Amino acid sequence: MRKQQHDILNCELIAVTGKGGVGKTTIAAALALVASAEKKQTIVCEVSGQRRIPALIGHPTAGAPGSEEQLARDLWATTIDPELALVEWAGKLIRPRALLDLAVRSNSFAGFINAAPGGRELLTITKAAELSRDERWDDDADGYELVILDAPASGHGLAMLKTPTTFAQIARVGPIANQARDVEELLADDQRCKVVLVSTLEETPVNETLELQAALAAQMGRGADLIVANGLIEDGLDGGELSELETVSVIDPIAVAAIASRHSRSLLQQDQLRRLRSGAQCPLIVLPAITSHAVGPDELQQVAGLLAAALAQRS
Ligand SMILES: Nc1ncnc2c1ncn2[C@@H]1O[C@H](COP(=O)(O)OP(=O)(O)OP(=O)(O)O)[C@@H](O)[C@H]1O
Ligand SMILES: [Mg+2]
Repeated sequence: MRKQQHDILNCELIAVTGKGGVGKTTIAAALALVASAEKKQTIVCEVSGQRRIPALIGHPTAGAPGSEEQLARDLWATTIDPELALVEWAGKLIRPRALLDLAVRSNSFAGFINAAPGGRELLTITKAAELSRDERWDDDADGYELVILDAPASGHGLAMLKTPTTFAQIARVGPIANQARDVEELLADDQRCKVVLVSTLEETPVNETLELQAALAAQMGRGADLIVANGLIEDGLDGGELSELETVSVIDPIAVAAIASRHSRSLLQQDQLRRLRSGAQCPLIVLPAITSHAVGPDELQQVAGLLAAALAQRS
């Protein structure tokens, strides 16, 4: 029997953003594992030339730029290349083919991308949306059930989500305006598109997460759908136990100092978790720090398992 799907996965596009270094790529990849385990045909998209996810998932190759690489059953990955996306899209609009080739050779696409502020972001988000469409730019390709976008950090991520609106207003009519309006509609619809904010439990990332949440509401008329508080230190000590440890002289003082420092970091995290919880206007889930090294395929499976369990509790 098909398992019940988690709420957050019931949409066409999930954009994952948050402050730099908080775990966006890890959470985007883990969400993709959870979705594909539920037999949802899922593609996870990296941007800005990043191609970390295939290796993170344990796949030996990343595929050519712009290609959709199958990593596992119901799971694909791609790195969106705005220039390739523009050529692909233009292929639908510019006929005959010789004219398209001329436009490619004359570098006019690169000109558009570099001249139009936000052009790269528009093409990136437009390509992400295109991956979920039944009618793809490539007539032979099928749309994915779910697209997960490992979006740029905070301000840049929000700017990317806003570019379709900006371009639709500037272009007003014609194919760019129509395309931008379609994507704008998708992003504004909180049933079709979900926004996941990732934060660690430190002051600046929590501030940024709460600011992002407010900016999404003010600038896009929609909130975030899930906040992931990532990297909670599971300390388990209370103050009394720590003082007891400190009095046991046989224990290496360096080890005791390390335990004490971990304990005080964990207390600071609890303060930040309280702030995040009280400011969050959407569901929040907490994931522990699972390793002190970089997350690899085994750890990613562990994060995905924890994420699935936390999401199941919410649905
Ligand atoms: N729950 C976790 N436990 C332990 N380590 C984690 C956890 N989540 C992420 N990490 C580690 O934290 C680091 C940053 O994670 P990640 O690359 O996913 O962040 P990011 O937000 O995508 O960063 P960037 O802004 O550079 O793209 C990585 O080394 C990753 O392995
Ligand atoms: Mg990243």
